[in-house]
Amino acid sequence: MGIAGKILIVDDEQDALENCRRILSRVPYDCVTECDPARALDLIARERPGLILTDLRMPRLDGIEVLAAAKRLDPSVQVVLLTAHATVQTAVTSMRYGAFDYITKPFTSSDLVQVARRAFGENGAASAAQTKGAEVLPPAGRGRSGRRAAGRVIGESAAMESVFSLIEKVAPTHSNVLIYGESGTGKELVARAIHDASLRAERPFIPVDCVSLPDTLLESELFGHEKGAFTGAHVSKPGLFEVAAGGTVFLDEVSGMSQTLQSRLLRVLQERQMRRVGGIRFLDVDVRVIAASNQDLEAACRRGEFREDLYYRLNVIPILLPPLRHREGDILLLAREFLRRFVTQQRPGPGESVPDLDGSAMDLLCGYSWPGNVRELQNVIERAAVLADGPFITSAHLPDRLRECHGEDAPPPEAGSFKHAKQAAVTTFERGFLLDLLKRHDGHMGRAARESGVDRKTIERMVKKHGLRELF
Ligand SMILES: Nc1ncnc2c1ncn2[C@@H]1O[C@H](COP(=O)(O)OP(=O)(O)OP(=O)(O)O)[C@@H](O)[C@H]1O
Ligand SMILES: [Mg+2]
Repeated sequence: MGIAGKILIVDDEQDALENCRRILSRVPYDCVTECDPARALDLIARERPGLILTDLRMPRLDGIEVLAAAKRLDPSVQVVLLTAHATVQTAVTSMRYGAFDYITKPFTSSDLVQVARRAFGENGAASAAQTKGAEVLPPAGRGRSGRRAAGRVIGESAAMESVFSLIEKVAPTHSNVLIYGESGTGKELVARAIHDASLRAERPFIPVDCVSLPDTLLESELFGHEKGAFTGAHVSKPGLFEVAAGGTVFLDEVSGMSQTLQSRLLRVLQERQMRRVGGIRFLDVDVRVIAASNQDLEAACRRGEFREDLYYRLNVIPILLPPLRHREGDILLLAREFLRRFVTQQRPGPGESVPDLDGSAMDLLCGYSWPGNVRELQNVIERAAVLADGPFITSAHLPDRLRECHGEDAPPPEAGSFKHAKQAAVTTFERGFLLDLLKRHDGHMGRAARESGVDRKTIERMVKKHGLRELF
């Protein structure tokens, strides 16, 4: 393991190096600097730093290569990338290769000092989880019948396999996670699975719905308030960021936050400190933030509705939960599991047999487009379990809409309806996501499928649907 307190700074610009060294001389860390990234690798082997701060863009060897080489030499070393705004996306990707964090240039002295402190475990449970990451048991394991599962999340499609791998990788780290997915795809369940598999599992998991509360209420929910801060504030109240200390805050539908709240949240994530509404004291914040959105946040940034800097802070590790219609392999597995759970819950006791699905039921379940995703499937199965009185669930126990609306050939929803607006939003999201993904992989669909966890066939179908063929 590298030497705690020893930092190597790598940057091809001498001024930048000096600046970092000057800032870090205020804290008791031992700094070595190097402007040639190739020579930096020798230094890593010789000096065994506990933390490496490296510029991303450098001639000959870039920051990602330094990261990869450093991790090969010493898997426990923490690496932080220093990046210009234009290359933030690359830095974000680097988190997947084991970077501890990245900071965007120009950064403040406090950004630099904070990140070094966190990397050396001076910030409580969060950094302990980070430094002990390698020792943490993987959260996703083989459940009953040898199938892969993480917490209560189940699935066996290629898409879910890669979600399980991501949960496994991300759980022991301190990185913020952004979960994308349509309503009912399991975003909250995945957030819980990450929390339960992290070193924060013994501390609270607190879900916060960012759209259901008016702005001022949400602000005082999150940050708390002091007595007299506003009319009706008769007593002081701690915010959820305090209540969740050492644990996880799950910000559901984060795109619903107002600009003011977005800036406050950004400050908390950067400085790891906050003040209650009407308060003057700064309080330390030690929470991991997992956010969820069913909207394309990048598009929201382009429209100026969501702060880009906040987006990058939250989107360190993106997890995409594809709609159920794109992971057909999971439908019957989930249906059988819900049947089992329902029967054992409703009719506990030995000998109670779980009905199975007959061919007609399977056909209907697999042919439907599941606009409400897993939640809808769960409800349909619960209803069928109540109706069925024999050993089989048949098509007669399933609702009529499953017969009427088959796959994506369903009639288009009426303009102006909620369904229509939702479909339009999903289409925009799909297209933007696909474009970025394929650009990153030079149009290589196999690689794009692997990274995104979407089946290759589905990618091909989406490329065709959005007319993106000729672009790549
Ligand atoms: N992969 C899965 N395995 C088992 N159960 C699942 C899975 N995905 C979703 N569920 C179940 O489906 C229901 C909906 O999941 P969840 O609330 O996590 O979705 P969501 O994406 O947060 O939805 P919304 O956007 O509407 O809040 C829950 O009851 C959850 O337990
Ligand atoms: Mg939810």
